[in-house]
Amino acid sequence: MNGAARPVQTAFAAEGEALLAGLRAPGASIAPKYFYDTLGSTLFDAITELDEYYPTRTERAILAARDRQIAAAFGRTGCTLIDLGAGNGEKAAGLFAALRPREYVAVDISVEYLQRSLQALQRRHPQVAMSGVGADLCWRLELPERLPREGRLFFYPGSSIGNFHPDEAQRFLGGLSAQLDETGALLIGVDLVKDARTLQAAYDDPLGVTAAFNLNVLRHANRIAGTDFVISDWRHVAFFDATHGRIEMHLEARRPVRVRWPGGERRFAAGERIHTENSYKYRMADFAALLGRAGFAAQHHWTDERKWFAVVLARPARECDE
Ligand code: AVI
Repeated sequence: MNGAARPVQTAFAAEGEALLAGLRAPGASIAPKYFYDTLGSTLFDAITELDEYYPTRTERAILAARDRQIAAAFGRTGCTLIDLGAGNGEKAAGLFAALRPREYVAVDISVEYLQRSLQALQRRHPQVAMSGVGADLCWRLELPERLPREGRLFFYPGSSIGNFHPDEAQRFLGGLSAQLDETGALLIGVDLVKDARTLQAAYDDPLGVTAAFNLNVLRHANRIAGTDFVISDWRHVAFFDATHGRIEMHLEARRPVRVRWPGGERRFAAGERIHTENSYKYRMADFAALLGRAGFAAQHHWTDERKWFAVVLARPARECDE
């Protein structure tokens, strides 16, 4: 962004109304994108420091050990590196030396946080042009028109793809493949299926950081939808559902609760839950098949020793690949 870190787009129409629609539904839910206000993004950063939360650390180690192989497999320097859900941008910045991007485009829903992160990153990497896009990845990704189609590398780390239902993941990835030409690629991190105990501990840590992250969504709801959630009425619940291959997070009412908002209310019985997140864990073969259905051909993948996490480089499939 040529010196100044300024997100260029925001598309958060009727966010409060969308959140309330989930609260009114028979099985109440709040979409996980509402975790990421400024405090939520900071709490997520804290989660990534936890001993129990292995994905970030494992992925970081794979990227650090394999950055040159990744760059060689991608096969060109001077790309436009488009970081989806950039957060503090540190993971992408770790690839700058190997990939030597011409431009770094950070996309994130948390605009204020993105702005601060980009300013810090730009100071440390003045040679890379940087820009920010404030966007909700649940919607179609609108990139600035000036971005060349050639040489795009979408970077979607952290296994954020796991927060989509597999059908939505396919739709989302299909949208990305449609925005690439044959010189482009997707570099994506995916959390792999492992023992339930390890998974459970990663989402229910003894320090309570994940609990705070989950509960913070209620503060965010109070701000954007005018609800009157009392945080102490709720507790964090997380468990691995082996049937669906996913971690589920919920907020459970500790006692009978009435939540009001302008024009409506809902009563929750003690023990009733609000579903806040799914985090799908994949087997590598299933993830490669998902990529195939989304118009990608998985080219390479790299894992850690325990095979807990994979980083995948995928190219848009040409007719003859299918
Ligand atoms: C962002 N996403 C990949 C995280 C995950 O592991 O599903 C969000 C998270 N939820 C609880 N802890 C971390």
